[in-house]
Amino acid sequence: MPRLLHHFAVALDRDPLGFQTEMLQQRGDGETLRQLDLLAVDGGAHRGGDILAAVDTVQLLRQVSIFAELPQETLGDLAKRVWQKQVDAGSVIVSQEEPGDQLFVIASGKVKVVLYGETGREIILSILRGGDFFGEMSPLDRQPRSANVVAVEDSALLGLDRDAFQTHLTDHPSTALAILAEMSRRLRHADEVIGNLALLDVYARVARTIRDLAQKQGEPVDGGLLIKERPTQQEIAGLIGTSRETVSRALNDFTRRGLLEMSGKQILVRWGFLRKMEDAA
Ligand code: CMP
Repeated sequence: MPRLLHHFAVALDRDPLGFQTEMLQQRGDGETLRQLDLLAVDGGAHRGGDILAAVDTVQLLRQVSIFAELPQETLGDLAKRVWQKQVDAGSVIVSQEEPGDQLFVIASGKVKVVLYGETGREIILSILRGGDFFGEMSPLDRQPRSANVVAVEDSALLGLDRDAFQTHLTDHPSTALAILAEMSRRLRHADEVIGNLALLDVYARVARTIRDLAQKQGEPVDGGLLIKERPTQQEIAGLIGTSRETVSRALNDFTRRGLLEMSGKQILVRWGFLRKMEDAA
C-alpha cells in the first residue's frame, strides 16, 4: 500500500448525496446497491495540511503531468489549496447531473468514468489511475457533471475547488495548455470509440480491446504478448458497449481457435492473433 494511504484515517459520518442515493436506489442492481453502502465519500474530505504534510502533497502534485512543469513555489501554493480525500473501492466520487465544484487528482488507486443506461447497464468511458485528473469539466463550463466517477480500488484523491482551480489556470497558462492537451486526447479516444461502435461488430471490438491492451501492457514471451492483469469481462463489456456474456463468448471463441490463452487474470495474446489484426486493418 502506498505510504500516502497510511496518512488517511477518515471517519465517514454523513451522506451528503441524499438525492443521489435515491436516484441510485431506483436502479436497484447489485453493483449499485454495493456502491450505496459506500456513498458518503464527502464525509472524508479534508483541507490540505490536516493529514498529509504539505511536502508530501507537493511531491504528489509534481507527479501529475498537468502540474509537472510548475516551479516549486507554485506547487507549494497549490498544495495549500487542495483537499485530501480517501475513498473506498465502490464509492461514487462524482455523480452525473449533480453540480460540481471540484477538480480531482488521483494520488493513488484507480477510478472508472461511467454512464448508466436505464436498466442500470454500465458504459465505461475511461479508467483513470494515479497521476490522472477528473472532474475538470463542470468547474470549467458550470454545467452538471457529465458522467459518474466511481472508485475501482481504494483511492487517495486531492481535490481543488473551482475558484482555486480557475485562479491557478489564469496565473499558469502551462497548466491550462496541459489540460487542453489531455482533453484533446480524451476527445480523440471518444471519437475512436464512436467510430468503432458504428463500424465494427462486437467480435471485432473485443479483438481491438485485447490488441490495445497487449500493445500497452503486454510483455513479450514465448508465443506472443502476455497481459498480466486483464480487465474483467464485465469491464471489457462496459468499455465496448456490449454484455458480459457476449465478451465471454468472443474470448472463448478466440481461445478455441488458438489465438488467445487465458489463465486467471492473465491472457497470452498469440502472435497469430496480432498478425490477423494487422491483416484486417
Ligand atoms: P465532470 O463533467 O466535471 O465530471 C465527470 C468527469 O468525468 C468529467 O468532468 C471528466 O473529468 C470525466 N470524463 C467525462 N467524459 C470522459 C471521457 N469520455 N473520457 C475520460 N474522462 C471523462
